[in-house]
Amino acid sequence: MSYKASAVANANIALVKYWGKRNEELILPQNSSISMTVAGLQSYCTVEFDENFERDFLNLNGEDIEPDRKEFKNVQKFLDVVRQHCGKKIYAKVYGKNNFPTAAGLASSAAAFAALACACNSALQLGLDGKGISMLARRGSGSACRSCFGGFVEWLKGSKEDGSDSYAVQLADENYWPEFRMLICITSKAEKKIKSRAGMKQTVATCPLYKCWLESVEADLENVRNGIKNRDFSLVGRTAEHNCLKMHATMMTTKPPIIYWNRTTIDIIHKVLELRDSGLECYFTIDAGPQVKIMCLEKDINNLKSALQNEIEGIIDFVEAKPGIGPKVVEEHLF
Ligand code: PMV
Repeated sequence: MSYKASAVANANIALVKYWGKRNEELILPQNSSISMTVAGLQSYCTVEFDENFERDFLNLNGEDIEPDRKEFKNVQKFLDVVRQHCGKKIYAKVYGKNNFPTAAGLASSAAAFAALACACNSALQLGLDGKGISMLARRGSGSACRSCFGGFVEWLKGSKEDGSDSYAVQLADENYWPEFRMLICITSKAEKKIKSRAGMKQTVATCPLYKCWLESVEADLENVRNGIKNRDFSLVGRTAEHNCLKMHATMMTTKPPIIYWNRTTIDIIHKVLELRDSGLECYFTIDAGPQVKIMCLEKDINNLKSALQNEIEGIIDFVEAKPGIGPKVVEEHLF
C-alpha cells in the first residue's frame, strides 16, 4: 500500500516572538507568540508513505539529503511522531521545495513543516483538524504551528507537560486587515551559522536577561492582540518592533554572543527610524537572521520601497507580503 499527498503552506513572521523552549523533545515554548502568515513565501511538499520503502528519503529543493544531515534527522524525527500517531511502521519519501532562500531567517522551516504536517494528515487520512495539524507541525519546528492558519495567529504556550494545550489559534483571518504589509528586505542569501533551535537553547541556558524577556512578553501579547482587534497599526507596529529588539538583546547577551545582523540590517533599522520621524509610519522586525521585515500600510509601501532602494546599499531583493492563507492540500505532486 502507498499513501501520497501534497500540500502548500505559507511562512509566517512573528509580531511577538517565540524564543526559548521549556521542553526540547515536545517543542513546547516558554512563551506564547503571535504572527502574521505571509502570502507568497511558500513551501511546497509531497509525501508518500509506502510499505515497501526500507527507510525514509528526503529531497529538498532538488537535492537528495543524506541521512547524516541535520535536516534529514529533523524530518525523520517528525515522521516518527506521525508513525507513532497512526500506529503504522511505514517509511516515507518527502520532497520539499521553497520559493525563497532556505535557513536565512525567513521562516523556511515553519512553512515546510506546516506543509508536511498537512500533507501527512491527508496522505494517511489522520483526520486532524486545524488545531491537530498545528500540534503536529509544532513537533517539526515550533513556529510551524502558526503557519497552519491564515491571517493573524497566536501560538498558545500551554502549561501541560504533555503539550496537549500548546497549539495555534487564528486571531483574525487573511481578509480581516488587507492593508497590512510586510516589506521583506533580503540582505543575505547565506545559510545562517546558528539555527534558531541552537540559538534559543543557548539563550535560555546563559542569558542573564532572559527572565526579563519572559516577564515582559505578556504585555506585548496583550498589546498585539488588542492592536489586531482594533486594527490599530501603530500599536501593533510599535509593540512588534520593541519585542523584536528585546529578543535580539537576549541573543546578543548569551555566552558566546549571537549576532544575526549584518551591516545592511543595521542601515535598514536606522532608515526605518528616520522615515518614521519624517512621517512615514513603518516599523521593523527581525528574526534569527539578517533579513529585515518592515511593517507598513498598503498606502505607504511604494514610498517605503523607493526610499530603501535609493538610500540603502546591500539589499539583494525585496518581497512584498500581505496576510496570507493557511495550508492547502494540492493535487500536483513533486514526484
Ligand atoms: O520555529 P523555529 O525553531 O524556526 O524558531 C523560530 C524563532 C523566531 O523566528 C526567531 C521567532 C518566531 O517566533 O518565529
